[in-house]
Amino acid sequence: MANTKAVTKEPFKVPGNFLVGHLLSAKNEGVYFYLRMGKEHGDALQLRFAHLNLYLFLHPDHYREILVDKADQFIKGKQYDSLRMLMGNGLLTSTGKDWALQRKLMNPLFGKEGMDVLLGHINRITKKYADHVTVNHEIDWTKYMFDLTLEVAFASFFGKSFADKDLDKLVSASFDCIRFVSRRMSNIVNPPVFLPLKDNQDFKKSYHYLNSTVSSIYNARLLAEDAPPRDLLDLLMKAEDNGLKLSKSQIWDQILSFMMAGHETTALTMSWLFYYLAQHPEAQEKIADECKRNDYKFDNSLAINQYPYLNAVLNETMRLNPAGWIISREAAEDSSIGEFKIKKGQVIAVSPLVTHRDPRWWSDPNTFIPERFLEGHELYNKAPKNAFLPFSLGKRNCIGARFAVLEMALLCIHFFKEHRVQTTQTNIRMKGYVTLKPDKNIRVTVKRV
Ligand code: HEM
Repeated sequence: MANTKAVTKEPFKVPGNFLVGHLLSAKNEGVYFYLRMGKEHGDALQLRFAHLNLYLFLHPDHYREILVDKADQFIKGKQYDSLRMLMGNGLLTSTGKDWALQRKLMNPLFGKEGMDVLLGHINRITKKYADHVTVNHEIDWTKYMFDLTLEVAFASFFGKSFADKDLDKLVSASFDCIRFVSRRMSNIVNPPVFLPLKDNQDFKKSYHYLNSTVSSIYNARLLAEDAPPRDLLDLLMKAEDNGLKLSKSQIWDQILSFMMAGHETTALTMSWLFYYLAQHPEAQEKIADECKRNDYKFDNSLAINQYPYLNAVLNETMRLNPAGWIISREAAEDSSIGEFKIKKGQVIAVSPLVTHRDPRWWSDPNTFIPERFLEGHELYNKAPKNAFLPFSLGKRNCIGARFAVLEMALLCIHFFKEHRVQTTQTNIRMKGYVTLKPDKNIRVTVKRV
């Protein structure tokens, strides 16, 4: 697309309020505003939120250009500053050479070898949550998933380094930090962190507590005898490329990055997952049959290949409700996307949510049909390659994708061995903050079978 047409155009300027542009429509309609924009105005749009101009691109070919071919020209800019405040220059927020070195060091940790080290921890915690779930009473599933993903994160990052009572305190301090930063990312204007406001002080207290606890575990590990890696902290401390290793503060930044990028995204995806499954008892039975056929075995990080139906259900959930529903970048130099000119400093965005529900690529796009991901099935839906991007595309795609899939799959394997799920909720709407949330927490009733 980019190479065949002259670069002359500006994205279509969507008419808006002369004062605030599209701010009020976006506030009132939330993510449905972006879905409507895609439907009404095509693939390349100019929007304005008060003083902020946004170019929204919605074609899979544009995605390839922005996220893959020209990834060095479209970078994580000022909009990531709130996150940088919490996690410095970890993998999620850094750019350029700094990012490239970190990613090179960390790719193996989230590849098969590293994940096989973490599998035992993820398995232990997901089994605990499946075995101890409250039955026959309606429960707040979204909250349960938030607790689960944070405990999985702590167990995978630090193994068994904490007593249960310390873990509770750490989990609550992490929640405080994550909520503080998410709030700041959703606001257009924020008070400076140095002001002595209660919110700022609570954040600093939780941050300090987390930092000092992780620091003491790190110091203890330095003194311990060399042993095979047991958890992500060991893997991070041993990671090396041509003699280069991560420093203590870099490791701290990474741990916060993984927590911030992995916790809420996975918890929300598992909330939507059980919302859809509760409405599709036949899909629950198919998952249960597949798990039984596999004897509930999941003994290495590639075992998801033996669970094609479960994998299709996970994909279909992330198609309908991608936690990373919008991905933004800033142009580091004058550039182009397709036939459109882009000026240095321009903020651009792509939306997996809009593309995942685009009828040009997906038949019956708003309906939950896992079979569309089963090759060979009559409902198999061959969409263009870049029209499905729950974990983004290109070199800055989600490093934790395999981790997230393992966690979701293991929870289902343990859960559907003896349980099924029901709900009375039918009309949950999507709300887009940094991630894509349900407008109310998902509530389900679990039955034992
Ligand atoms: C279902 C769960 C998840 C979804 C849908 C998801 C989605 C995404 C997306 C869309 C991005 C790209 C963001 C951007 O470019 O602006 C991303 C990046 C990232 N994710 Fe995930 N993620 C999930 C789970 C996880 C987990 C479990 C971890 C860590 C254990 C993780 C760690 C990261 C990191 C570190 C990045 C930045 C990578 C880089 O820039 O090199 N994610 N994720």
